[in-house]
Amino acid sequence: MTRIAVLVSGGGTNLQALIDSERAGKIPHGSIELVIASNEKAYALTRAENAGIAHAAIRRKDYADQDSYDAALVEALHVHDIDMVILAGFLSILGPRFIQSYPDRILNIHPSLIPSFCGKGFYGLKVHEAALAKGVKVTGATVHLVNEIPDGGRILLQKAVEVQDGDTPEILQRRVMEQAEWILLPKAAEMLAEKLEEEKQA
Ligand code: GAR
Repeated sequence: MTRIAVLVSGGGTNLQALIDSERAGKIPHGSIELVIASNEKAYALTRAENAGIAHAAIRRKDYADQDSYDAALVEALHVHDIDMVILAGFLSILGPRFIQSYPDRILNIHPSLIPSFCGKGFYGLKVHEAALAKGVKVTGATVHLVNEIPDGGRILLQKAVEVQDGDTPEILQRRVMEQAEWILLPKAAEMLAEKLEEEKQA
């Protein structure tokens, strides 16, 4: 079984989709063993608590530099014997030490069709504000592997979602979550978990 950690910063609806999918038997090769939040107020921590999953807040401001923050995150993952990491709305920056510790083993969900509206400064509602400002008629979500280029790793799954007249950033965000993110992320989690389990057995 591939042991999964989910890193979060906010409401955690993508975390909830992962938990619900695992419970429904849709992630047979993976098990969510740990949730780490970048701040202690993230509601995602309550979701982890309610699901009986180990959880902790590890805050960037408690560390002197990026490298020591990365080291603290990696240490927490090692304590729980984590094989694979999912970034589900994690808004703190991850440095090379973290990324190199889990090569091709970190997934990220981004709320647009990469390469549109991605990279530095594009996160959360800002992505949907930019899509509406540009006037695109189709947006969506992307799950990709994480490398050292922001939103630049290999794309695993994408799904398109229509923009509708009168959309606000909040309405569009919700539609992209419902029609794309909550479906794609559990699917990609199972894909990678299965691949890692096969590699372990080879
Ligand atoms: C999601 O829409 C996710 O795609 C986005 O943050 C939101 C988190 O919501 N991530 C990014 O923008 C990363 N660049 P959630 O906490 O309810 O899952």
